[in-house]
Amino acid sequence: MKTETTIHGLTASLQTARTSRKTIGFVPTMGNLHQGHLNLVREAKKLCDVVVVSIFVNPIQFGEGEDFESYPRTLEQDSHLLADVGCDIIFAPTVDQMYGKQPRLTNITVGGITNDLCGQSRPGHFDGVAVVVTKLFNIVQPNFAFFGQKDYQQLAVIRQFVKDLNIPVEVIGVPITRAEDGLALSSRNGYLTEDQRKIAPTIYQSLKQAEKELHAGAALSEVLLNIKTQLTDAGFVVDYVEARQPNLQPIEIFNQDIVLFIAAKLGSTRLIDNLQVQFKA
Ligand code: PAF
Repeated sequence: MKTETTIHGLTASLQTARTSRKTIGFVPTMGNLHQGHLNLVREAKKLCDVVVVSIFVNPIQFGEGEDFESYPRTLEQDSHLLADVGCDIIFAPTVDQMYGKQPRLTNITVGGITNDLCGQSRPGHFDGVAVVVTKLFNIVQPNFAFFGQKDYQQLAVIRQFVKDLNIPVEVIGVPITRAEDGLALSSRNGYLTEDQRKIAPTIYQSLKQAEKELHAGAALSEVLLNIKTQLTDAGFVVDYVEARQPNLQPIEIFNQDIVLFIAAKLGSTRLIDNLQVQFKA
């Protein structure tokens, strides 16, 4: 496994793979890897000849007062984990390497689907994601790119601009990896105190409870309210509890498949999760 820190170095490393027409799989990350990330790499290994994982804490997707400075940078530990799952190349550029010294005058805004859910409480976040992922796609030029479904809205945003801008990559969404107690794996779980970590699985429990209630015929508004109450009682400050169609459009018909979304804070740690609820016809 190689680690490249420059665009030039990465391009050189991928040269043979490109000329011999090997398929390149790409897993963009911000590092501090957990089993969720490693499962993305495992999926990439199944489908691709060469797997590139980027580790880059992207400053422009963090808002003011968010955790850009304190976001854990654990390259050495990440490298060991990636070697174990068969990653071929780590791309770990500096901010300077990615953005240079001149001001960036180009932005990428995906309309509509970024207006609510996380887009509302994190203004500019998805523009920052769209810009960095586009840059990374142009640098790596992968055949396939792998993203976790925990960041459901992010995945939808990426699929949208890939389609709108004809970026020649196939985007693959990988199901959420959960801890044994149901908590969706996230690098931010590491911010939780021991007590908060015990409370955190309430998010998933409330989603599963909601699924049961919906299948039993309960009204959606009532079910969403129950989730909010459960989370508030457990000590969360709820950002949003919402339901959407799988394409993130508002729900129109009763008994169609939906996705439930939660964002809630425990102390200063913001956690998100989602669950797809299916209704058999
Ligand atoms: O999901 C993440 O870790 C980041 O948003 C991504 C896709 C690597 C872009 O910085």
